[in-house]
Amino acid sequence: MNILLTSTARRIDLVGFFQEALKNAGIDGKVIAADPEYNAPSLQAGDENYVIPHQTDSNYMETIVEICKKHHVDCLVPLNDWEVHKISAHKKELEKLGVSVFAPDSNIVKKVRDKGKYRELLDPFGVKTPLSYFNVEDAKKALEKQEVSFPLIVKPRNGSASIGVDIIDNLEDMEFAYQQAVRNIKESPLDSATSREPEDNVIIQEVIEGDKFSVDMFNDLNGRFLTSFARKQLGMRGGDIDRCITVNIPELTDIAQRLGESFGHTGYMNADVYFNGIDYYVIDINPRFGGGYAFTHSAGADIPAAIIALTAGKQVQEDWLRQKPDIELARHDTVVSINKQKVMQVLQE
Ligand SMILES: Nc1ncnc2c1ncn2[C@@H]1O[C@H](COP(=O)(O)OP(=O)(O)O)[C@@H](O)[C@H]1O
Ligand SMILES: [Mg+2]
Repeated sequence: MNILLTSTARRIDLVGFFQEALKNAGIDGKVIAADPEYNAPSLQAGDENYVIPHQTDSNYMETIVEICKKHHVDCLVPLNDWEVHKISAHKKELEKLGVSVFAPDSNIVKKVRDKGKYRELLDPFGVKTPLSYFNVEDAKKALEKQEVSFPLIVKPRNGSASIGVDIIDNLEDMEFAYQQAVRNIKESPLDSATSREPEDNVIIQEVIEGDKFSVDMFNDLNGRFLTSFARKQLGMRGGDIDRCITVNIPELTDIAQRLGESFGHTGYMNADVYFNGIDYYVIDINPRFGGGYAFTHSAGADIPAAIIALTAGKQVQEDWLRQKPDIELARHDTVVSINKQKVMQVLQE
C-alpha cells in the first residue's frame, strides 16, 4: 500500500507515524511525502519525496495525479488548509485511480472555510459559536444594544495561520483594525483563496476568554463518525500548539461527535473550541489533520493505523481510537540536513 501525504512541511513526525503503522500492520508499502519546498524537513523522511508545484500553480493537480499513477497510490492525505479544497474538488478523479482520499467533500470544505457563517452552520447542530459582524457599522450597533462588549476580535472570514488577526478594546481602534485587516488580506494568499472582495472578507467577533481546546473529529471513508480527541492548549508557537494536556471532557466529546456526525465528512477535521467558564464555543474548523495530532498520538492513539485499515478494508482496532487523558506534552525542534538527492520533481523526470 502506498500512501501520499501532501504539504508535509515540518511534519516529519506524521510521516514517521504512517511508516510505523504500515510496518505494524505487516503491509509492504511506501509513505510518499510531497511539499512545494525542496528543503522542507519532511522531504528527508519519506520513502519517496517530491517537490510539487504550489497549490496556486496550474500544474498542482496534474502533479498529484502523476504521483498517484506512478506509485499506484492507495491513499491520499492532504495536510494543508489551502490545498484541501483543490484535492476535494478532484476527489472523483482520484478515486477512479483507486485512491482513497482522506479529505472532506468540497461543500464541507467551503462551509468550514467561512468563519462568518459558523452560526448558521453550527446552530442547527446545537453547537455554539461567537457572535460575529461583517462590518464596523453592525458591530457598533451591537455594542450600543449591549449584545456584545469589548474586547472584540477582527479577523479574516477565511483566515489561516493567524494572518490579519487583531484584538480591539475601543471604538477608535475598530475602524483602523478593520482597514488593517483588509490591507493584510490584500497582501496575503487569503485574497486569491476567495471570490469575496477583501472588504467583505473580514469579521468582527466576540472574544471568548478562558480555556482553549483543540478538538479532532475522525470519520471513516463513508463519513461515519469514529472518534474524537481533545487537548487543552498550554502554549502556542507560530499558530500551532506547542504545549498541551490531553483531556477527555464529556462536553467536548459531545461537541466533536455532533460535528463529526453532522458533517459526515471523510477523514480528519480539527476545531478550536474555547470555554468561557459557562459554555464551549467553536471558533475555527480546519478540514484536515491539525498540528496537534502528534500529541494525541503520543498519548496512545493511532489514526494512521486506522487510515491504513480503512484503505485496506480491514477492521479498525478500538485502541487506535483512544487517547489517554491527562498526559502533558511539549514539542521540540530538531535539525535535519537537506540531501537534495532525496527529493524528486515529478514532471521533469
Ligand atoms: N472569538 C475569539 N475569541 C478569542 N480568541 C480568538 C477568537 N477568534 C480568534 N481568536 C484568536 O486568534 C487566533 C486565530 O484565529 P482562528 O479563527 O483560529 O484563525 P486561524 O484560521 O488563523 O487559526 C486563535 O488561535 C485565537 O488565539
Ligand atoms: Mg485556528
